[in-house]
Amino acid sequence: MKILVLGGANLNILGSRQPDVYGSETLEDIQNFIQKSFIEKGIESVWRQTNAESELIDWIQAAKEEGFDGLIINPAAFTHTSVAIYDALLSFDAPKIEVHLSNTYKREEFRKIKITSGASLGVIEGFGKYSYFLAFNYLAENMN
Ligand code: DQA
Repeated sequence: MKILVLGGANLNILGSRQPDVYGSETLEDIQNFIQKSFIEKGIESVWRQTNAESELIDWIQAAKEEGFDGLIINPAAFTHTSVAIYDALLSFDAPKIEVHLSNTYKREEFRKIKITSGASLGVIEGFGKYSYFLAFNYLAENMN
């Protein structure tokens, strides 16, 4: 099984970015943790991050052709703003899960507005790197 993991704006500076909210691990640390945890279950994952909304859309559009069986996405700030990413997600007909490191409901009011979230099977948030772990676990148990 091949899963595409996409990350949006500012996730490239995880580790140094608001460590009180996001922790001290980098996105690469999280990637290594997940890949180690799921390799034996036969789950391969490709991780990509961008600060550009259009690049995220291009990657989602290409996901089927690239042979991905599922998608885990942390759209980051685009979650709260992007109809274009929501539309792109609807066009990828495969299991999709949205994840967030932080519990956005404990934060600013504007983070409660989630434009992208309705395009995925569900949303897992507030568990740091375990948000990704739980999403992978779901896919591991529910896809063949
Ligand atoms: C985030 C939450 C978003 O509100 C924020 O803009 C991010 C990260 C998270 O993983 O907690 O950049 O998606």
